[in-house]
Amino acid sequence: MAYSEKVIDHYENPRNVGSFDKDDLSVATGMVGAPACGDVMKLQLKIGENGLIEDAKFKTYGCGSAIASSSLVTEWVKGKTLEQAGTISNTQISAELALPPVKIHCSILAEDAIKAAITDYKSKHPNA
Ligand code: FES
Ligand code: FES
Repeated sequence: MAYSEKVIDHYENPRNVGSFDKDDLSVATGMVGAPACGDVMKLQLKIGENGLIEDAKFKTYGCGSAIASSSLVTEWVKGKTLEQAGTISNTQISAELALPPVKIHCSILAEDAIKAAITDYKSKHPNA
């Protein structure tokens, strides 16, 4: 299948690959899997004192579209609040990357990873 130029760019030059210490209280970790294909995505957000996402990293074991989707969202979330990051939707991701219908679930993985990271952060900061 043909990948869009933006997918190939993110796939060949993925932004922000890596990990933070998941036990760090300023780190939010979202780990999700796609039942359809078995691909796995880990997205981590580092939240600054001011409540803004100051950094993001990902590791994705999956197809080019999943890698591109996670690379893209690490760029999009920086400087946002968790609440703002939580509004990033798979339709925005798939539109930006021009994903074909069979690859929509790859962008859903990225949306779900953000949401899972937010849930993780809330569980670490129950009184925030
Ligand atoms: Fe094989 Fe996504 S289905 S890499
Ligand atoms: Fe399953 Fe892309 S995440 S094919």
